Amino acid sequence: MSNDAPLAALVRTRRLSVRFTQEELAERAGISVRTISDIERGLRRFVYRDTAERLAEALEVCGTDKEDFILVARGRAGAHEPGVQRPGRVSSGRNRVPIPPTALIGRDREMEMLLGAFREGSIRSISLTGPGGIGKTRLAVEAAAAARDIYPDGVFFVPLTSCESPARVVPLIAEAIGLIEPGTRTVADLSAHLTTAAILLVLDTFEHVLAAAGSVADLLSGCDRLTLLVTTREPLCIRGEHVVALPPLGLPPVGSADLSSSAAGRLLLERATAAKADLVIDEEASVLLGDICRRLEGLPLAIELAASRVRHLPLVKLREQLDARLSLLTHGAADLPRRQRTMRGAIGWSYDLLDSRERSLFRSLSVFRGGWTLEAAQDAWPTAQGDVVETLGALVDKSLVVLNGVQSQVPRYSMMDVIAEFAREQRDRYGEGPPLLRSHASYFLSLVERTEKKFGTSAQEEAFEELLAESDNLRAALEWSLTEGDAEVGLRLGAAVWQFWRAAGYLSEGRTWLEQALRATVGGSQELRAKALWGACWLAFQQDDLRSTRLYSEELLEVTDDGEASLMRRNALTVQAMVHMAEGDFLAALTPLERSAEITDASGVSWYVATSKLNLALGLLHLRQLDEASSLLDQALELYVRLGDHRFAARAQTYRGHLELLRGDAGRASDLFLRSLRSFNEVDDQDGIAEALEGLAAASAAAGGMDQAALVLGVARHTRERSMSKMLPFERALIDRWLDEAQEALGEERWADLLGQGSALDVAAALELVS
Ligand SMILES: Nc1ncnc2c1ncn2[C@@H]1O[C@H](COP(=O)(O)OP(=O)(O)OP(=O)(O)O)[C@@H](O)[C@H]1O
Ligand SMILES: [Mg+2]
Repeated sequence: MSNDAPLAALVRTRRLSVRFTQEELAERAGISVRTISDIERGLRRFVYRDTAERLAEALEVCGTDKEDFILVARGRAGAHEPGVQRPGRVSSGRNRVPIPPTALIGRDREMEMLLGAFREGSIRSISLTGPGGIGKTRLAVEAAAAARDIYPDGVFFVPLTSCESPARVVPLIAEAIGLIEPGTRTVADLSAHLTTAAILLVLDTFEHVLAAAGSVADLLSGCDRLTLLVTTREPLCIRGEHVVALPPLGLPPVGSADLSSSAAGRLLLERATAAKADLVIDEEASVLLGDICRRLEGLPLAIELAASRVRHLPLVKLREQLDARLSLLTHGAADLPRRQRTMRGAIGWSYDLLDSRERSLFRSLSVFRGGWTLEAAQDAWPTAQGDVVETLGALVDKSLVVLNGVQSQVPRYSMMDVIAEFAREQRDRYGEGPPLLRSHASYFLSLVERTEKKFGTSAQEEAFEELLAESDNLRAALEWSLTEGDAEVGLRLGAAVWQFWRAAGYLSEGRTWLEQALRATVGGSQELRAKALWGACWLAFQQDDLRSTRLYSEELLEVTDDGEASLMRRNALTVQAMVHMAEGDFLAALTPLERSAEITDASGVSWYVATSKLNLALGLLHLRQLDEASSLLDQALELYVRLGDHRFAARAQTYRGHLELLRGDAGRASDLFLRSLRSFNEVDDQDGIAEALEGLAAASAAAGGMDQAALVLGVARHTRERSMSKMLPFERALIDRWLDEAQEALGEERWADLLGQGSALDVAAALELVS
């Protein structure tokens, strides 16, 4: 968690060092225990300046440390820190350059070469190639971290390990650099965004998606200050690609007891003493270790696997066994390149040394994509042949499984690529694939259906974080359900998770899954179908694709037209009304809006009750029935606050801002927009931020602050551009009048100039500007 949420680590460490409980800190700082707890769990990554200062004081941080603390707390530390720029609607930190837990050994020449090339700038596409386990990713990560100062617009890490489809490469890059759909993100979109940005993109594990090499080449030629560092087992073969075939680590000379003069020797020594602190390293041991390095050809991953065994195997035995296993291999599998054979041999050897329980768990774990939790591992291990914690721990000790994020509340485990491939092969040899894939899908279905219950409550952000961490597993489960498995499982998955897709900005991807699932399950349960259609409607609507929204909504109305006043019927009517409003026909929207409010009132389900009131209020605002709208908004806001849904509470606040604006009270409107801007900023909701800023710009203009209006609108436009979100026509209708006035008053030139100045500001600067 500390890498992902620097504030979490900072507050926790500091609090423990001054020996406060969370409660004591909360009291001293005058903030809630809940806030402290959310910060420490990484659920809140930034706080306001005021809160930051109070925290710093309560934690007794002073001087320059205090300034640094406040920067971290405000989310501004190292504006050039990799990935900090990612403004996802659901912040993930997944694209930060990972911080390795151990130091890099050797690779001085390669580091020098890479940094030299980055600085010089003439080579803009470097591919690190070599077999699995040779250290491509490791070197790329180090080089990226060291290159931060060279790329003022950022260094971004794009893991492609779990990316099965070349078509997803461009969207993944877009996501990494903070561009969120709607709409399909194309190379052209990306190039337009990156034209002048000085950025280093690390594309890790490209061999899965070689067919995307063309798009990457186009991207490169469209952006002249972009540099690519790719790790791949095979070159991309694009123009200008500079291939660096990574050699293994340098070996100690034959018979030498001097391990420290070679990188392979140092790595083995370091890992072996980490595994067994009391390992005696005399001359004989050093010579043996040197032999092992050479036998393993200086392949770092093979060395790590061997090192993890020194705890239980005397060095002589270890060398003997490796020798036997690897000689065997040299005779067979002749079609593989030698180093690859050695690597596989080392993995096979490690696997053979496992006991049968460990082997069985190891094979089962191969079903996961993008890591797993302890609970998931438990579920994947069919007959619970032992204690999963203990067996998993044994696999970690033997370097076959990696434990990530020890400090986080829910630790995650993963496997290195080559090891995962080996595990999948073993699993398939045992014919364990189909039942494992089935139970994987059903595990994630129940996880999603459980998590879904938290949507619209104060636990929503936590739920989104969890789903984000499981995105690759969800994709794998959907893929399996819709191709080999049970399509209804896919439909249930999509229907339960679409609200997360919407919040995370996975609009096209989510729609594709839902459409695929809807096609694959004609004739299934009406209720389930309605839920999935409802999702498809909203995802399409959010993309401003009214045609598709209308089509889905017609089917949704049909499916729910059984005379029952169900919540699904309410959803169908709401979407119908939204389509009318988007077309500018507010009168036509009124009937379905009123009907849905009636249904929800009768249902008594608070979130729906609130949301139907909110929607109806929006319609009424446009029809200038302001008093009625006002009372509905008050009721909705109260319900959201009670439920703890901060996003929707902020949305209600924005609408109230519009209401005051229509009533002619620009000061009150401004206050309300400001409040909603702060709330949206807290949860990093880019759409919401943009809407609140637009309202604020209109309120400034209404109060005669024309310069401020243009500046704030500039910030809003930039926010929209970055997140590629569009203003809906009925949103624009609420503010156009005032913005037109401002534009007219300022004149074309000044207006454009101020908009441009505004687009260079961030939300925090906008807040300062108007506060
Ligand atoms: N120079 C090094 N110093 C320390 N550890 C290293 C070094 N090179 C590699 N390692 C370690 O060796 C293991 C394998 O390295 P890495 O994952 O970078 O291989 P890779 O070439 O990217 O493999 P793959 O093709 O499977 O992705 C990792 O645990 C990594 O930390
Ligand atoms: Mg790698």
